[in-house]
Parts: sequence; structure tokens; C-alpha cells
Amino acid sequence: MATWSAPGKVFLFGEHAVVFGKPGIAMAIKPRVYVTVRRSRNPARVNSPYIEGCFEETGVTGSVYIHSQLPSSSGLGSSAAVTVATLSAINDEFGLGLGRSDIASIAYKIEKKAQRGRASPTDTFVSTYGGLVLIKDGKRRRLPPENFNLVIGNTLVSHKTSELVAMVGEFRMSNPLVVDPILDAIEAVTLRSMHNFHDLKLLGRYMDVNHALLEALGVGHPALSKLVSASRAAGAYGAKMTGAGGGGCMIALCPKRSKSKVAGAIEAADGKAIITTIDTDGARKE
Ligand code: MEV
Repeated sequence: MATWSAPGKVFLFGEHAVVFGKPGIAMAIKPRVYVTVRRSRNPARVNSPYIEGCFEETGVTGSVYIHSQLPSSSGLGSSAAVTVATLSAINDEFGLGLGRSDIASIAYKIEKKAQRGRASPTDTFVSTYGGLVLIKDGKRRRLPPENFNLVIGNTLVSHKTSELVAMVGEFRMSNPLVVDPILDAIEAVTLRSMHNFHDLKLLGRYMDVNHALLEALGVGHPALSKLVSASRAAGAYGAKMTGAGGGGCMIALCPKRSKSKVAGAIEAADGKAIITTIDTDGARKE
């Protein structure tokens, strides 16, 4: 029997723009998915294309038990975390000898199949390696970790990443003169933020700008605006939607002393709050 866990993720800057080759910054977060795999002749009877994909790809059979601290379909990368933790546990239980980069790439392949062609390689990379991750020129690499105090606000409004990504793509095709400068501005915010991790006030301001630019792309939602405004009023340095938008989650960068107040404001504005920070471990044996 082997138990492994893997973390969820948030985009700090640059979501959607990364789809068009722009840079982005993502971060692994504390809430995790825990998966126990046990060798068994009887294949796992689970209703999840991600778990099924893990057994199919590795050609072994076993039973699984999953415990998740991450809300699903909220943009926090829970499917990637399930896939990475399951693959890691299978790798351990069956002694397959896969390394982290194998886990990340096989997990991405499984996500792509389960999501019919569109998946985020960032989600599986961040969940496998943990930490702070820069996406640049189509590659991902870890940056030195930063202890940002974040409060996540889940709108509980469901969204479809594939539809939002397609919608932005169509908007860009039909209006390049309008959309390209927005993507360029998101790129500028992402790159400037990387040089200002020490200046939390400025970083918060950049988050506010990134949020406005994502709204300009058309991926905002009234429930996101409500949680973003509530967080700012409660003392956050800045706040923005995270991930695909159109519902899902937002993040607020907070002074340490204001975390609970911001979380309270998110709950009072009908969101579900998670106080969190960076997870530097990635996939981990429990
Ligand atoms: C979704 O979490 C982030 C997007 O940029 C899509 C992606 O990076 O694949 C919208």
C-alpha cells in the first residue's frame, strides 16, 4: 500500500495570456489531494477518467482511496493533483521507477485525454514539483519560493476552462487590434511582478491591474468582482481572479495580520475562503 499527496495551484499572474505564448506565474498551494493505492487483481472501480487514465497508462491494477482538501472544478487544479498523486502512488506501490518529470508528463497526457484535448501543462507541472513556477517561452521552471500570504475565495460558480479559453481565442481572432494590447499588458504586469516580489504593495497593485485586464478579455463574473472588492476593502494589498475566470476562484494578497479579516469578508460576500500560502513540496509520500 502506498499513499502519496499532491498540491493544488493558483495562477498569480498571466492566466489566459500564457495560452498565447506570454509568460505567467503559478504557485502550488497548501490544500492537497491524498491518494492511497493498493495492489489488487481486481481493477479499481472508480468513476473518474483521471484515475482510470493512471491505471491505463501504467498497465497495472489496484484499488484507490482518495481524500481531497481541494474543491473540484474551481480552477485550483484538483484534477491535476488527483492525477499526480495517483500516478506517484502507483509508481511507488509497483516500483515503476518513474521520476518527477515522467510523472508530470504522463499526468499531462492523462489530463489531456480526460478533458478531450485541452489541458493545462502548468497544473500538472506545479502539482508535481510544488513551489513558485514561471511559465516562459512554452517552458516551465521553478523560481525561488516566496511566502506570500494568500486568501483564496471560491465563488462556487462553476465554469468551463475549455469554453473560456475558446472564447478568448475567438475574441482575439476577430479583434486582434483590441485583444493583442491587452495580452501585451498582461505580459508586462507578469514580468514586472517577477522583479518586485519583495514589494507586496506594488504586487497587490499589479494583481488589481491583472484582474482588470482579464475582465477586459471578457472572463470576469459578478461573483468574482464581489469577492475581489470585498477583499480589497478588508485590507488586501490587491486581488484578482485566478485561473480561467467566469466563476471559479479569486486570490487576495494580504498582510499577515489581515488574513482572517479578508477571509471573513469573502465569506460575508457569499464566497468560500481558504487561507493559504506556498507549498514547496509538490508530490510527496505520506
Ligand atoms: C487555467 O487555470 C489557466 C488558463 O491560462 C489555461 C491554461 O493555462 O491552460 C486559462
